[in-house]
Amino acid sequence: MINDIEKVYYSEEVLKSIVERLGKQISEDYKGKNLLLVSILKGSVVFMADLMRAITVPCAIDFMCVSSYADKTQSSGVVKIVKDLDINLEGYDVLIVEDILDSGKTLSYIKKLLIGRNPNSIKICTLLDKPERRAVSDIWADYSGAEVPDEFVVGYGLDYSEIYRNLPYIGVLKREVYEK
Ligand code: IMP
Ligand code: MG
Repeated sequence: MINDIEKVYYSEEVLKSIVERLGKQISEDYKGKNLLLVSILKGSVVFMADLMRAITVPCAIDFMCVSSYADKTQSSGVVKIVKDLDINLEGYDVLIVEDILDSGKTLSYIKKLLIGRNPNSIKICTLLDKPERRAVSDIWADYSGAEVPDEFVVGYGLDYSEIYRNLPYIGVLKREVYEK
């Protein structure tokens, strides 16, 4: 796996400090609210596990699994719900937890769907943001860990063809890996 990585973007230590900063900010902003973290599987699984432990206010958690009819490196915006939420969103301040905001098509679809379920509020927390790639105008990160340029990154939950999610850091995949 390590041989397929061109360079490390965010080391374990840096990711830890990013998550601590986000957790602190979210804990301040959601004091006295009814926080529900909605993790978008599978990519956000590692981030979610760390972020929830960096949050010091009470929160509920739930998971949604979507597949975005994509080729291997680009999403189409046509989203299939593979596993829906268990919790009824009414009365909750929903915070969507996502691995990376790329074109924004996936989150645009999910956000609209969840707004229709009448939560108190809904916001987005993404570990990584690729603003250069945004293809929709109605999606932005309310909380963002770090920006990345237009390169394909893997690790810390992010995959290429379901592999590399277990790398503890975030790195850029060598082009030859996905162009072969
Ligand atoms: P969007 O709908 O284009 O914003 O796509 C978002 C999803 O595409 C993310 O949740 C990831 O699963 C995937 N994705 C986008 N960019 C990358 C990347 O650089 N590495 C791994 N997955 C990515
Ligand atoms: Mg993915």
